[in-house]
Amino acid sequence: MNRLTSLLGTRWPLIQAPMAGVQDAGLAIAAGAAGALGSLPCAMLAPEAMQRELRRLADTGRPYNVNFFCHTPPQPDGAREATWRTALAPYYAEIGQDVNAVPAGPGRLPFSDAAADVLEAFKPRVVSFHFGLPAPALLARVKAWGAVVLSSATTVDEALWLEAHGADAVIAQGLEAGGHRGHFLSHDLTLQTGTFALLPQIKAALRVPVIAAGGIADAAGVRAAMALGADGVQVGTAYLCSDEATTSALHRAALRSPASRHTQLTTLFTGRPARGIPNRVMRELGALQNAAPAFPLATAAIAPLRAHWEKQGKGDFSPLWSGQNASGCRAAGAAAITQELAKGFGPI
Ligand SMILES: Cc1cc2nc3c(=O)[nH]c(=O)nc-3n(C[C@H](O)[C@H](O)[C@H](O)COP(=O)(O)O)c2cc1C
Repeated sequence: MNRLTSLLGTRWPLIQAPMAGVQDAGLAIAAGAAGALGSLPCAMLAPEAMQRELRRLADTGRPYNVNFFCHTPPQPDGAREATWRTALAPYYAEIGQDVNAVPAGPGRLPFSDAAADVLEAFKPRVVSFHFGLPAPALLARVKAWGAVVLSSATTVDEALWLEAHGADAVIAQGLEAGGHRGHFLSHDLTLQTGTFALLPQIKAALRVPVIAAGGIADAAGVRAAMALGADGVQVGTAYLCSDEATTSALHRAALRSPASRHTQLTTLFTGRPARGIPNRVMRELGALQNAAPAFPLATAAIAPLRAHWEKQGKGDFSPLWSGQNASGCRAAGAAAITQELAKGFGPI
């Protein structure tokens, strides 16, 4: 037991990272059964689906983490949307579709009172957030049922802010991490650093436990993070090819190919920087494209291109999310992956 396992109620201070779009409760259940904290990402789940997945997790009787984004939805910007659709128009022409026939839509919803209503019936032990924390009244609802609250920090300033605003532990998300960057105080990516630079500085600044995330792919990585003062680790990419993840076949193939040695931050798929393996659209439009509508509004216009090409077996317009270290991706059960990572803890 250490400070983090006491908070989380798990055998290991190890969190299977919530990964919206590539998993449901199945991955969380398998990782949880092996002693980690399994996570259910809810950013893309409608209330009915959330309820169904929460029921599966609750039935295990083990602690689990439920994860939400907590961005402020942007005002739709007609001019920006039009510029973006013009940039995508040639790709629509190529597949014989009309870019202007695509309905706009959010793609991802922030945590809300409606989501809290669904959660309240289950009272999950842990609730984690990405992009800061929800408004104080909403956070108070979560805390009222005794949930442990976690959130990601990409800088020391964000870690201090999260501690001051009620986080019970802070995830230090290094720049290596796959998926969306969790920043919320500044959009300046030059402020962000790798896990080994970020973790000790956050650890020195905070009283609450600190969880290292980004680039940790095996037991040696776990051991290194713990040696640098982490109270625990959160691992995402290494679970992407697990039997229980819902990662597509083409995404799995990219992760297990030499292509995964190169990742880039890109705004093309959602409007916020997220790390993935470069593909055709990233190469041709430029991965960090300012023209993309604000998060999460960029999601709508690229979705039909993704769907079209995925049917042809191509990931040219798909987000191939990956951290910088995909070496831990293997086709195995999440329990085996968890046990392998846990070897890095040694006696706690
Ligand atoms: C495919 C994918 C999807 C992700 N989706 C989420 C998410 O929905 N919520 C979240 O808090 N973090 C998300 N993340 C980020 C992880 O929480 C974590 O920071 C990251 O996976 C750690 O780095 P690693 O991928 O190198 O292990 C995602 C990461 C990946 C790879």
